[in-house]
Amino acid sequence: MSEQKTKINVKVKRFDPEKRVFVTKTYEVEVDRFTTVLSMLLEIKQWQDPTLSIRYSCRMGICGSCAMVVNGKPTLACETNVFSLAASDLTVEPMRGHPVLRDLVTDFEDFFERHKSVSPWLIRKDIEEKFRAEKEYTQTRTELDYYLPFSYCIKCGLCVDACPVVNTNPKFVGPQALSQAYRYYADSRDEGLTQRLESLDSLEGVWGCEFAGSCSRVCPKGVDPALAIQLLKAEIAKLRIFGKTTEKRSIS
Ligand code: FES
Repeated sequence: MSEQKTKINVKVKRFDPEKRVFVTKTYEVEVDRFTTVLSMLLEIKQWQDPTLSIRYSCRMGICGSCAMVVNGKPTLACETNVFSLAASDLTVEPMRGHPVLRDLVTDFEDFFERHKSVSPWLIRKDIEEKFRAEKEYTQTRTELDYYLPFSYCIKCGLCVDACPVVNTNPKFVGPQALSQAYRYYADSRDEGLTQRLESLDSLEGVWGCEFAGSCSRVCPKGVDPALAIQLLKAEIAKLRIFGKTTEKRSIS
């Protein structure tokens, strides 16, 4: 039995980098209950308009490449089922919080610079361990639970796109970078606490967050950047007032 198809109109906001103008083009497409926004766009590209630029890779919500704005909401195109949107017409736009390169493809250079600015890696004092590893640094289940929920970030940029502060204060480092700062800070193997928190203790860092919570609502992996930022705020306040943070680490 063949799948029932429905015709819908898709408005795609496209950007021409040569003329520096946005143009909205409307395409008519047939979709069924399995159609995702990404497969629909690829269908348009294959059969109607080969000039349409889209970025994607895994098609399964892993790589984070296909982030865009669908019917006003920042989302992963490959994970968004067209029928689930329950709308006869769709509007697809590039992300707004990132510079647009062409059509639905945005520039991530600044995004990764911000990510890098919080030193998103394990910082240790015993750097000779890097070159002559002599033991394992085991963790208890509790130690793992401190950071695991924040380690699922796929760097899709959706949280940054949804953040009202990033979109009004370009110096704010943003929810993705801050959630990853917490992910490493909370890791019992990390010893970069002071080094990392110093750079975060500012209006460009955690104190720029106004706790709108939109970052957490759009994360396709269930990471909660808003929570991570509030936890970082609490740790910084404890450090400033009491000279120490929450005790949670025991490296075996
Ligand atoms: Fe990889 Fe959508 S194509 S997350």
